[in-house]
Order: sequence, then C-alpha cells, then structure tokens
Amino acid sequence: PDGRLLDRLHRPLRDLRISVTDRCNFRCSYCMPKDVFGKDYAFLPQSSLLTFEELTRVARIFVAHGVRKIRLTGGEPLLRRHLERLIEMLAALRTVDGEPLDLTLTTNGSLLERKAQALKDAGLRRVTVSLDALDDAVFRRMNDVDFPVAAVLRGIEAAQRVGLGPIKVNMVVKRGTNDHEILPMARHFRSTPVVLRFIEYMDVGATNGWRMDEVLPSAEVIRRIDAEMPLEPLEPAQPGETAQRWRYADGAGEIGVISSVTQAFCRDCNRARLSTEGKLFLCLFAERGHDLRALLRGSYSDEQIAAAIGLIWQGRDDRYSELRGQQQAAPGSGQQRVEMHYIGG
Ligand code: GTP
Ligand code: 5AD
Ligand code: SF4
Ligand code: SF4
Repeated sequence: PDGRLLDRLHRPLRDLRISVTDRCNFRCSYCMPKDVFGKDYAFLPQSSLLTFEELTRVARIFVAHGVRKIRLTGGEPLLRRHLERLIEMLAALRTVDGEPLDLTLTTNGSLLERKAQALKDAGLRRVTVSLDALDDAVFRRMNDVDFPVAAVLRGIEAAQRVGLGPIKVNMVVKRGTNDHEILPMARHFRSTPVVLRFIEYMDVGATNGWRMDEVLPSAEVIRRIDAEMPLEPLEPAQPGETAQRWRYADGAGEIGVISSVTQAFCRDCNRARLSTEGKLFLCLFAERGHDLRALLRGSYSDEQIAAAIGLIWQGRDDRYSELRGQQQAAPGSGQQRVEMHYIGG
C-alpha cells in the first residue's frame, strides 16, 4: 500500500472519521430527538464496541492506505472512558510520508473544560466544537437537556489555553430556530483565532424530520454577514474540504460555510467513516456499512484486512449529496439511512 488508493470516481482516501461511542449527553433535535432517544433507547452494549487495540490496529491499516487525518466523533466522543489512552495510541502513528497525523475530534464541548489538558497531553492536535447559539435560552432549547452555553464557552477557552488550536466551531443553522443567532455568533468569534463554520441542516438519518424549508442556504448566511462585516472568498486550504472559506475584509479572521444541501462537495470526498461497532461506511448517507469488526476478530492478518479495505474503497461510487441535488436521490425512501449519532457526522 503506497497511499494511492483511488475509488471509482478517482477519489483518494485521506480522512478517517472514527465514532467512539453512540451515546451523547445532549438531545439536539436534528440528531437525537428526545422522543426517539428516550430512557428506553438501546445503545450499543460495551462488547460490541471496538476496543482501543482494535481501533489502533485498523487505524494503522488505514494510514498505510494514505489516511492523513483521523477525527474522533460520537455521539459525544468525550463520553468514551479513557479516551486519552486511545489518543496516545493514535498519536504514535505516522502517515506514509512519515508525518504525524492530523489528529482531532468533534465534541459538543460540555466536558472540554475538564478534559482539554489531558487531551492535549495525550497528543491530540486540535478540536472542533459544535455550538448552535450564543443566546443561552436558544442553546438550552436546541441541546434539549438545558445545558448552559457558558460551560461550552469555557470549554472552548480551555482548549485554546492548552494549545488545542486553531479551534473550529460548528453551528448547524435551522431556519426559524437559530438563524437569528448567525450574526451574534459571527460578532462573538470575529477577531479571535476561532474559525466559525455554518453548516446547512442536512437530511441525515431518518428520525430528525428534515424539511427543506428549514434549510437556510449558505449563500444567505454569507449575504447576512457580509452586509454588516464585509467578506472575501478564500481558496481551499486542502482538496476535498467540507467548508468553503471566507475572510473578513478588514483582517478580523476567517469563517466557513458547509453547504452539503445547496452545493454538494462529493466530487473530492476523501472521507471514510468507521462506526462504533466497526462498520465501515463510505458515505454519510449510506444505508449499510462493511463489517470490519468481523475481520478484526477473525483470524486475519493485517495484510488481509488491508487488502479487503482496499477493495472496498476501490469499489466506492457514493455521492449522495450530488445526486440529491440533481433530484435523483438514491432508491428507497431513505428510511434505512444510518443515524448521525451512530456515524458521527
Ligand atoms: P476540518 O478538518 O476541521 O475541516 O473538519 P470537517 O469539516 O472535515 O469535520 P467536522 O466534523 O467539523 O464536520 C463539519 C460538518 O460537515 C458536520 O456537520 C459534518 O456532518 C459535515 N460533514 C463532514 N464530512 C462530510 C461529508 O463527507 N459529507 C457531508 N454531506 N457532510 C459532511
Ligand atoms: N445537519 C447538519 N449537521 C449536523 N450535525 C449533526 N446533525 C446534523 C444535521 N442534521 C453536526 C453536529 C456536529 C457535526 C459532527 O455534525 O452539530 O457539528
Ligand atoms: Fe450529541 Fe452532537 Fe448529536 Fe447534538 S449533534 S445530540 S451534541 S452527537
Ligand atoms: Fe462524501 Fe457522501 Fe458527503 Fe458526498 S454525501 S461528500 S460522498 S459523505
């Protein structure tokens, strides 16, 4: 394996997103609505989770195939016990070019104030924090567990303080729910090193009751910010990036928009996703994953598993967002689609 693995649309494999738990302490309505994820919801049992040893083994194989970025996701990844140990193990891996990995995680920030230093010490490079509003009442309503915004802001500050930067903040924008928070969020993070990114509300999973009229197109986000704080487009930092980058014309920093609904970015999609129980998904909107856990727990060598992963990637032709954009969304009603809390976004 020399890192030149290409799929059927000639896309390399660069980015591995690993979900380390399907649990979360928030109940954001667009991801884990309370009426579905209530007290009786059956999360995965401990025995079905990949162990840190299994995760590190599979990560090493992916890295040999050309992966350069590993992002830990959830649910909420900081709920996984002893996560620092896994980070230490992953931080020791080197890319095919002998470089350290871009090792990061996406968190809701609720445990970040407490854990930032340990994460940094374990070798985590940076973090991305989800934050949907600055207004406390709006934020408490959106996380639906009455979690205060101040604690997340303290988490972001702690991460900055210990050097887990440059930090990104992700805001999912739902028209009519938090779109009035776009400008307050932009003003708050302007002139700081934090890169704020606005995400179009996506039709992931089958439980969030997604409707197109709740999507606020990124073009509108940019228009609203630009009217008060002029913006200029920036070139992509890396091929296949999710976000389009913009900078404030007066030099007060950078923002981004992630427009998977109005401007699909499948063309360069170089991301693979590993679920908590070791299923490999080739698209955020896939209905099925490939069972790597069976291989990891069977009597297969690393070479055999690497070959299997290579074949899976070479057969990949997923481009869900692009097809939806052309009104020819995949067959079926989408009721089988994998859920966000399970695949980690
Ligand atoms: P950076 O490396 O910091 O740029 O992170 P990222 O944008 O790759 O990952 P992050 O977890 O911050 O994801 C931001 C948003 O983009 C989330 O809402 C993800 O669900 C979404 N996203 C990430 N990758 C994809 C993808 O391949 N397809 C689609 N449709 N959405 C994605
Ligand atoms: N649409 C867009 N983004 C979503 N996320 C979770 N559900 C959705 C959705 N339906 C975001 C989270 C987090 C990232 C991993 O995915 O807020 O920032
Ligand atoms: Fe938890 Fe993130 Fe889903 Fe909200 S979006 S419920 S914080 S996993
Ligand atoms: Fe990649 Fe699928 Fe997202 Fe397109 S919709 S960018 S193929 S994960």
